Amino acid sequence: MKIEKVVLADVDSVAKTAAVDLANEIIKLLGSNSKANLVITGGSVGIKTLEQLAPLLQGINLAGLHIWWGDERFVAADSNERNQLQANQALIEKISLPSENLHPFPSSDHNDLMSAANSFADEIGKAAPTFDVLLLGMGPDGHVASLFPQETFQAVSPWVVIESNSPKPPDRRISLSYQAINSSDQVWLLVAGAEKADATKEVFAGNSNLPAARIAGKKLTRWYLDKAAAAGITS
Ligand code: 6PG
Repeated sequence: MKIEKVVLADVDSVAKTAAVDLANEIIKLLGSNSKANLVITGGSVGIKTLEQLAPLLQGINLAGLHIWWGDERFVAADSNERNQLQANQALIEKISLPSENLHPFPSSDHNDLMSAANSFADEIGKAAPTFDVLLLGMGPDGHVASLFPQETFQAVSPWVVIESNSPKPPDRRISLSYQAINSSDQVWLLVAGAEKADATKEVFAGNSNLPAARIAGKKLTRWYLDKAAAAGITS
C-alpha cells in the first residue's frame, strides 16, 4: 500500500492542488471505465476543494460520475450544517449530474437516526460501490468522517455506522465505516491548519491508533497538507 504526502504552502494551495488532481483523476476514470465513484467530504478544506473543482469539470460529460459522502450530520435537509447542502452550493449545483448519480445520506426529515441509517445501509449494500477516490478531512483530534477517537459509534451494516453522541456537534451523525472507507482504491486526506499538526505528527510517527491512522486506500493513501499541519512530521 502506497502512502504519498503532498505538502503545500497554505489551505488555498491544498484545495487548488487537490482539485486539479481530482479533476484529472475523474477524467481518467470516466475515460477508461465510463464510471467513477467519488466520495466527498464536508469540513472547510473539503468544501474549498469542491469549490475549486467545479470550474475544472465544466464541459465534461459527467454522466458516469457517482457522488457519495463520507459522513453526514443527521439534521434537517435544509440545515446549513448538512455536508450535502454545502457540497450542493460548492459543486453540485454548478455541474451537470443526473440526480440518480447522487447518493447522499438521509436527513432527519422523515425518520429517526436508526431507521434512516438502516435504509441507507440497504441502498449502499445493494449498490456495493467500489469507491475510486474517497476524500476525507481530519479534525484536530484525528477524527475522520464521523469516526471519532472515543469509538462511540454503533455499526449498522458493514458499510454504515451511526454516532448518537458525537464529541463534535451536532450530536447525531451517519458515517461510512472503517471497512467501507478502507475498501476504496484511493483515499485522499485534505488537511490544513496548525491545530492539525499534533494529530498529523502522531499519524506519521507510525504507532498511532487515531482514526486517521486507521484508514488507507487499497492502492493509494495521499495526504494533502499545508505547511502548518505538516510542521511536526519527521519522516
Ligand atoms: C464534521 C466535519 C469534520 C471535518 C473535519 C475537518 O462533520 O464535523 O465534516 O469531520 O471534515 O473536522 O474539518 P476542516 O477541514 O474544517 O478542518
